[in-house]
Amino acid sequence: MKLPVGARIIGVGAGLPASVVKNSDLTRLVDTSDEWITTRTGIKERRIALDTETTSGLAIEAARDALGFAGIEADTIDLIIVATSTPDDLYPSTACKVQGAIGAVHAAAFDLEAACTGIVYALAVAHQFIGSGTYKRVLVIGADIHSRFLDWEDRNTCILFGDGAGAFVLEADEEGETGILSTYLRADGTGAHLLSIPNTGSAYPHTGTTPPRAVERYLQMNGKAIYNFAVQRVPEAVKTACESAGITVEDVDFLVPHQANIRIIKSAAERLGMSPEQLVTNVDEMGNTSAASIPLALWQAIQRDQIKVPSTICLVGFGAGLTWASAIVRWTARDHRRIQKKTEHTKESTDKRETQEV
Ligand code: UT7
Repeated sequence: MKLPVGARIIGVGAGLPASVVKNSDLTRLVDTSDEWITTRTGIKERRIALDTETTSGLAIEAARDALGFAGIEADTIDLIIVATSTPDDLYPSTACKVQGAIGAVHAAAFDLEAACTGIVYALAVAHQFIGSGTYKRVLVIGADIHSRFLDWEDRNTCILFGDGAGAFVLEADEEGETGILSTYLRADGTGAHLLSIPNTGSAYPHTGTTPPRAVERYLQMNGKAIYNFAVQRVPEAVKTACESAGITVEDVDFLVPHQANIRIIKSAAERLGMSPEQLVTNVDEMGNTSAASIPLALWQAIQRDQIKVPSTICLVGFGAGLTWASAIVRWTARDHRRIQKKTEHTKESTDKRETQEV
């Protein structure tokens, strides 16, 4: 359905822990090898948060970076949505912490939980708010610290995840054109048991003087089932988002999938008839950063000058819930800081030339 007001992405940003953990480091914790992890997942290293780092801290860093990219001030933001399944606390929301820290004094703020798919869900919500004319600028962040919920003795899961945050700034398009061409959101709660972080919520009761039971609160996953779900659902989500945008898969220049496993990404690309050059991936450097993975992958592709402006991009996520979602985006955003630097550089050389000529 076409919304009355267009929305486009004008900024993207990243917040990353400094500490890099390589596959070889993990061989000291569990019975694994660099060769196994690389061939089965494509991951070579990941960022892991220090004890002093928090989900909100990474989200704040990503928010500031995205605002810098867009060249706008925090007090012009109307709404902040943080997609996370590993918030600092059950409440206050991580979004409220971001709002306070960056000085987005006019912004409403809330968290959204759709696991690794959360960022695409949040983008769709932001699109609706802008599209209806309610808000002009929305900051959408995906942030997760999964390392706090991993069993570091379980080789099936601890090798897969990394920590980080990625952000998008969305803006109403005054010219009436839209940068978000379509969004597609799905869920299948019958698969809830396939991927979970149990014993952290209210389903884990302890009352009165009864001390909390000592239960594990580690991420649990049926890897094979999630793998099979992803290779089916990713192509379906891409095709459906294309259809509702009125384009074909051939019109998509770049695919930015959730970065869980390079084999899932390549299998989806093959089914869709996409070439390796069209794939945006950084799973080798970041691992699975959950809700942060899509903006982080796009952010890194922009740093590497892989993304041409303008181009048509498909974002596609999948994860716990089960959830899956996609969006078609007309990418027109340029890094305001780079443009400014270029302008300053040109001005400097013109001034120099003029001084010499005098
Ligand atoms: O955001 C969404 C989150 N999750 C995902 O997207 C995960 C989707 N699933 C996957 O990516 C893959 O299923 C995994 C990477 C998790 C596993 O790959 P697989 O090819 O499905 O391996 P497997 O589970 O069938 O395990 C094969 C063997 C097993 O040994 P046996 O039983 O055949 O003797 C595992 O015990 O590999 C063993 N194994 C490992 N060996 C060395 C499992 N983990 C490791 C490890 N190092 N880290």
